Amino acid sequence: IYYINGVLIANKTYSLPSSYAPGGLLDIFTSNFNKMRDDALKEGINLEIISGYRSYADQAYIYNNYVLSDSKSNADTYSARAGHSEHQTGLAADINSLNINFIYTKEGMWLNNNCHKYGFIIRYPEGKVSVTGYMYEPWHIRYVGTPLASELYNNGNWISLEEYYGITSTYNY
Ligand code: DAL
Ligand code: ZN
Repeated sequence: IYYINGVLIANKTYSLPSSYAPGGLLDIFTSNFNKMRDDALKEGINLEIISGYRSYADQAYIYNNYVLSDSKSNADTYSARAGHSEHQTGLAADINSLNINFIYTKEGMWLNNNCHKYGFIIRYPEGKVSVTGYMYEPWHIRYVGTPLASELYNNGNWISLEEYYGITSTYNY
């Protein structure tokens, strides 16, 4: 289990054992998400978690289904192999939609421009598949705390954890 400055890293290079199973979203995620959701709602923005915590076994099931219905090389650009998903950390969730056009909705734009104030980052920014290992996911947020989230925000042109820490995200199998 790999941490950098207290930040748990889960990507294609750094994996979690199946025994790492917090069982749900961590309280730090939920309390900050609820605060963000309540503030957003005051502006007419509706934010909903559509996928939060996923166990190692949940992720294995999801990934294997994508491999079967699509292909392994395609699945690897948008779905993590078991043990490699941030959803297993209890610190990440998908908000509202898994459609790339989410960024053009008022909710998607609000999330992109405001989530850092609550300690969340857009984990897989646009055009960084070679760095993060994944296509753009405007719906996937990860809790890292406000100091780091504010550094990565970069006026909405998000910097990835891989760039910031100079780490890789590649499978060795
Ligand atoms: N969609 C992200 C990369 C995951 O499967 O964890
Ligand atoms: Zn996600």
